[in-house]
Amino acid sequence: MATRAKARDTAGKASSSGQIAVLVIHGPNLNLLGEREPEVYGRTRLADIDKELKLLGRELEMKVETFQSNSEGGIVDRIQNARGKCDVLLINPGAYTHTSVAIRDAIAAVNIPVIEVHLSNVYRREPFRHHSTIADIAHGRIMGFGAESYSLALRAARTIAEESRRQRE
Ligand code: DQA
Repeated sequence: MATRAKARDTAGKASSSGQIAVLVIHGPNLNLLGEREPEVYGRTRLADIDKELKLLGRELEMKVETFQSNSEGGIVDRIQNARGKCDVLLINPGAYTHTSVAIRDAIAAVNIPVIEVHLSNVYRREPFRHHSTIADIAHGRIMGFGAESYSLALRAARTIAEESRRQRE
């Protein structure tokens, strides 16, 4: 009961300085979710993940925007465009996780807390997936829970956003 009352207070404070805004970025090949290697990534389609995140966002009183691109430049542009407009960035860079210095630099440039998300537990897979160019600049990383990785990350995003708004007050 006390926790619920506190949660309502905190939500009130967040909305008094504008609704918390979260941008979710999905990298290459994630547009094929549901069809692509379902034994690894599950059967949930990307459109369903996005729909679920928007619903959860509404429940948590956060504005959730989603974006998918197969191109590294498209992802860099979208990250740059989020500067000053979003509280937390959730990103699954797909295969670019393991290779992209450009995405890392864009994240470092915009100064927005980032949660790195993966459907699969990359450490149970090939060694080339064990390296992430963004792991050390991410606020945290969530992986291995299939589509649920995203909803877990969205709940964490709310905590992070509230914390950084409190620090700015
Ligand atoms: C992934 C893991 C990456 O290694 C892979 O290239 C992907 C998806 C994941 O969500 O598990 O495209 O990011």
